[in-house]
Formats: sequence, C-alpha cells, structure tokens
Amino acid sequence: MRVALLTGGGDCPGLNAVIYAAVRKGINHYGDEFIGFLNGWRGVLDNNFIPLTLETVDGIQLTGGTILHSSRTNLKKIPGGVEKVQEVLKANKIDALIALGGDDTQSVTLFLSEHGVPSVGVPKTIDNDLNGTDQTFGFDTAVMNATEAVGRIHTTADSHNRVIVVEVMGRDAGWIAYASGVAGGAHVILVPEKDVDIDHVCALLKYNYDHGKHYGVVVVAEGCRLPEVGQVIDEAANLDSFGHARLAGVGEELANMIEKKTGYETRSVNLGHTQRGGVPTACDRLLGQRYGLHAIDMVHEKKWGRIAVLRGLDITDITIKEAIATNRRLDQRFFDVIADLEAKV
Ligand code: F6P
Repeated sequence: MRVALLTGGGDCPGLNAVIYAAVRKGINHYGDEFIGFLNGWRGVLDNNFIPLTLETVDGIQLTGGTILHSSRTNLKKIPGGVEKVQEVLKANKIDALIALGGDDTQSVTLFLSEHGVPSVGVPKTIDNDLNGTDQTFGFDTAVMNATEAVGRIHTTADSHNRVIVVEVMGRDAGWIAYASGVAGGAHVILVPEKDVDIDHVCALLKYNYDHGKHYGVVVVAEGCRLPEVGQVIDEAANLDSFGHARLAGVGEELANMIEKKTGYETRSVNLGHTQRGGVPTACDRLLGQRYGLHAIDMVHEKKWGRIAVLRGLDITDITIKEAIATNRRLDQRFFDVIADLEAKV
C-alpha cells in the first residue's frame, strides 16, 4: 500500500517515534511505501510532502518535535476541502492516511473517513486528556520537564521567602499540574476541573509560613478558573481555526491575588512551551513506537475512522467518534491524592 502520515496541532515529544515505527513496520513487514505531508492538514491541501523511507526515519525515534512539522488547520471549514484532499491523495496514489493529533486533528480525520477517505488516527497531546486512552505519548516528557522546573523553584522561593506560582499547560484537564505538582512537591496544586478557592489557597500557604517554612510553591494549570475572573485568556490573540481562545496568564493573575490577600511577596513563572520541547523520555519513545506499530496494522485491517488507544498494558483501538466525544479529566481519585497531601487547614 501507499500510506501517508501527517502530524497536526501542537507538537508533542514522541511524534517522531510513532512515524519511525509505522514506517519501519510498513516497509519491512507489509512492503508499503510512505510519504509524509508537511504542516498537518495544510500540507495535504498544498500537496506538500516528503518521502518517508527507512533512511529518512533512521534514528528519529530519539528526537523531539515532529519531522513533518505541524499546524492547526481546520480542513472542515475550508470550502471544497474534502474534494481537494481526495484529489491530492488520488494524484499521489495514496491508499490510506494516518493522522497523528489531538481531538481537533482527529475531528478532521473522522470527518474525512465519513466522506470515504481511508484514514486512521493516533492520539497525541501532552495534556493527556483524550478520551478512551489511558495515556497519550508526550505527557510523560511534559511531566518530567515541569517536575524538574517545579523542583528548581523550591530553592529560589525558599531563599527569598517568596511564594512562586508555576503555570503549566492543561486547557481542560489538570493532568500535568497534578503529576508535576505531586512529583515536584508543590504546596498547592490547582486543576481546571475545580474552580479556584482563593481563601483555601491562601490558608494552605499561610500554614507554611506559620510552621517554619517561609515560602510556598503553587502549581496552576493554564485552564483554571479564578474567582470573578474565570479563565485567563489572551484577549489580543485571535481564536485558532478550531475556535479556541489562547490561554495565558492565570499564574500571574493568581500571584497578584495571593500577594494582595496574604502580603507574602509572590512571583509567577509560566513554563509554556518548554514543557513540549526537547527529547522524549524513554516512556514516550516506547509508547509512541507501540502506537505507530498498531496504526500500520489498523491500516492493513482497514479500520477506517478508528484510533489507536492504550488500555492498561495493551494497545488497541476505538472509534474516533468515541475518542473525541469528551475530554478525559481528573476524577475524585486524583483529587483525593491532592487533598491527602495538602496541609490540614
Ligand atoms: O497541545 C495542547 C496544548 O499544549 C495546550 O495545553 C495549550 O493551551 C496549547 O497546546 C498551546 O499551543 P500553541 O501555543 O502551540 O498553540
């Protein structure tokens, strides 16, 4: 078969591992040929691609980012988009498409497969919030990066007797905040699943100052809702093509609120894209390759409109419809971990 791959949405450590494994198994076990469209769905519309061979993918499983580059292109909104995709796939004699992406990218994969384009998905997001899969690749690397940063914040906050608020990614779900907050020993962990109770936050910090630790570390997910403010969005930025506002600044806003209410000197730092950058962890290289191997099997089993998922220790697949129906969010089990580790105030 001739198979095309693409990567859409925000980049994610482990994307290259997926590409590597799918291409290797496809060539070595099925006799496939591959191309990679550049810049997500934009590359399909522009007929912009590179050949993917054993040579071009050699060693990429060790690297971060995506060799295919990425974009947030909502093909569903482009008039004649489906016809253009069909035309480009036909011209390049493509038998199947593998799209690596989060819920937005996969909403396009589903749309295309419903219009007869033979396509399958691989779940990608550092936010770890795709429904139906126990873990997405990239999450482990983001948590490692954020945990290291939170650890560094302790010594500087301690030295200056300050509160420092660390803003991490997580639009709809607080997986990164939860994991890096717990692993990094944060005193306060705030996730988008729960509205921020500023009195409780200040009480937790006051406990530190009253008990000999004259500093505090707060981890807050970018999607958290603050009292009277809600989500903090960048008003100057345009909505992206899927209609999402750009989140930015909850850490700074929260730091101001804490300083005002407690009188403690408070600073904030937004880890931003450092969380997504750099080489993938061993866990993400492994998970990415397992997803890639399953994706090429799905192609040969003609499992159109389905997406690879991790269930326990197994890689299997579900419909894309199910995967994008809702976000996978933290539940009571994780709230309990946060609450059990918090100071008793
Ligand atoms: O991939 C999801 C995500 O990491 C969100 O947590 C974040 O809001 C968004 O990407 C930011 O992406 P960008 O700035 O690259 O558009």
